[in-house]
Amino acid sequence: MKIIFFTGKGGVGKSTISAAAAWQLSHNHRVLIVSLDPAHNLGDVFNVSLNDKKHKYSDTLFLQEIDLQKLSRDYLKREIDVLSGTYRYLQTLNLDNYFSVLKYSPGIEEYALLTSIETIIRQESAFDFILFDTPPTGLTLRFLALPRVTITWIERLIQIRRMILEKRYTIHRLRGNLDSAETILSYREDDDDALRRLKKLNENYQRLNIMLQGDTCSIILVCNPDLLSLKESQRLMSGLDDLKLPLRAIVDNKVTEESSDMAEYVEKQLRNRTAGIPVQRIRFSQALTEKRNDRLFDIEEDLTHLVSP
Ligand SMILES: Nc1ncnc2c1ncn2[C@@H]1O[C@H](COP(=O)(O)OP(=O)(O)OP(=O)(O)O)[C@@H](O)[C@H]1O
Ligand SMILES: [Mg+2]
Repeated sequence: MKIIFFTGKGGVGKSTISAAAAWQLSHNHRVLIVSLDPAHNLGDVFNVSLNDKKHKYSDTLFLQEIDLQKLSRDYLKREIDVLSGTYRYLQTLNLDNYFSVLKYSPGIEEYALLTSIETIIRQESAFDFILFDTPPTGLTLRFLALPRVTITWIERLIQIRRMILEKRYTIHRLRGNLDSAETILSYREDDDDALRRLKKLNENYQRLNIMLQGDTCSIILVCNPDLLSLKESQRLMSGLDDLKLPLRAIVDNKVTEESSDMAEYVEKQLRNRTAGIPVQRIRFSQALTEKRNDRLFDIEEDLTHLVSP
């Protein structure tokens, strides 16, 4: 299975290019395309109405739009349940108050998105390709960065938890027989729910990080022949470098005769930073701007070689 994220500045054509690539790939492969953008238009591109369930477009092409608000709500609810279960002994603290604030916490959307991507990849392994049409750059970089950020936090939390268990052990030894089965707090690593959960989370995020950085995963950057798009593409490339995430191809989209000099310039600048990464130019298509059912298929440039193994 191959996983491909299409990223780029707002409006450059991520949805269009990912949809065209999905459609082309589906001639020879089983393909799922998922829109992660809160402002979906995957359904509009294929002229069908979608929701957060998989929609069968053809025998080999399936479409899905993620409901980010619902995901965030569900994510928070799951985490709250886990917290309440893990910290049963803290019932004297009013956790409900704490949770009502938590829903405004920055990062919830990113975690919800990442969790949903991980679930889709795990559950849909029968597809040859899963294509993700991503939201604008900022949010995308943030959720792609999350595994590494989270691992850093979890490793520190594991250290702190171990220190707590050591202190508990000391107290337990001092108190000796005074502890009853009801009041005793776990002091062994294997008995401690919180530490077990931290270790499990660490494993999951390590696995996800390895997957994102590995051969299964590709990131395709879409840009346009203009300076703003070039600047944002360069920022995105630095971000991907920092995170050691694999940029595999660049698509220079909506090139017209008038913008071909600018396209040369933009492509040269991008090539300078990324020796060996293919840059595919896609012309501006009049049909794409019209209301026609076959409009998507007017991008006849072959996109499959960008994404095929
Ligand atoms: N090669 C092309 N020729 C002509 N029009 C195009 C081309 N590619 C995309 N478009 C048009 O540009 C507009 C933006 O495209 P699209 O929605 O795919 O961009 P996006 O990057 O997904 O935008 P957003 O960041 O809002 O999600 C759409 O109207 C689309 O039809
Ligand atoms: Mg889009």
